[in-house]
Amino acid sequence: MATSPPPNTQEHTTGMIQHRYDRQAAIYDLFETPTELAWRRWRPRLWGRIPPGSRVLEVGVGTGKNIRWHPPEVSITAVDFSPKMLARAVPRSRQHDPPPELALMDAQALGFASESFDVAVATCVFCSVPDPVRGLREVRRVLRPGGQLLLLEHVRSNLPVVGRVMDLCNPVALGLQGANINRNTVETVKRAGFHVLEVEDLFLDIVKLIVAEPSTS
Ligand SMILES: C[S@@+](CC[C@H](N)C(=O)[O-])C[C@H]1O[C@@H](n2cnc3c(N)ncnc32)[C@H](O)[C@@H]1O
Repeated sequence: MATSPPPNTQEHTTGMIQHRYDRQAAIYDLFETPTELAWRRWRPRLWGRIPPGSRVLEVGVGTGKNIRWHPPEVSITAVDFSPKMLARAVPRSRQHDPPPELALMDAQALGFASESFDVAVATCVFCSVPDPVRGLREVRRVLRPGGQLLLLEHVRSNLPVVGRVMDLCNPVALGLQGANINRNTVETVKRAGFHVLEVEDLFLDIVKLIVAEPSTS
């Protein structure tokens, strides 16, 4: 009897999540309108921290919601693994001066030389990256020593009831959108070889601004 080879689990999961973002790309901005009212207050806080002249990597640029806050005096390369999300970022990138360079790329296998960037930024991305430790290790590899990682992420709450509800709802969020709502991204950042410098709670203990740098040890 012919049997099909077992799928490479990592590739299979990555393809599945990528497909979920492709599937929702056309309605993503509309669907996110209510939450964006809060996120648009937080995004500039992250981008305002980038020193002039930096080489910046934006991971998971999506439909390009951050582009309006890209500072003018830095060079930005922005990647995403969903062709349809990335296509939506193109008009936004063309309206910005200077436009970021956009590339279709998986954060778990970045096609850049080591130590190519001064700053790496991601907003609401490591909830979805199938293997977030692998993705963040890649980010660490392409950051120069002393470079900075700036994240805006929603994570699992430590409030007992809230955290439990997030666990229960996670399969629905993952199935519909491709995002996990119960990850501990601060721990993941540490596991990937970063030294966490700052964690600021922006909404309860769920939305966090995380600042880290590659560990030296
Ligand atoms: C929730 S959206 C956030 C988009 C954007 N950063 C924002 O703030 O609106 C998550 C994005 O991360 C991208 N993404 C998830 N995993 C990725 C990976 N492994 N490599 C590249 N992009 C990824 C998705 O395709 C999607 O566009």
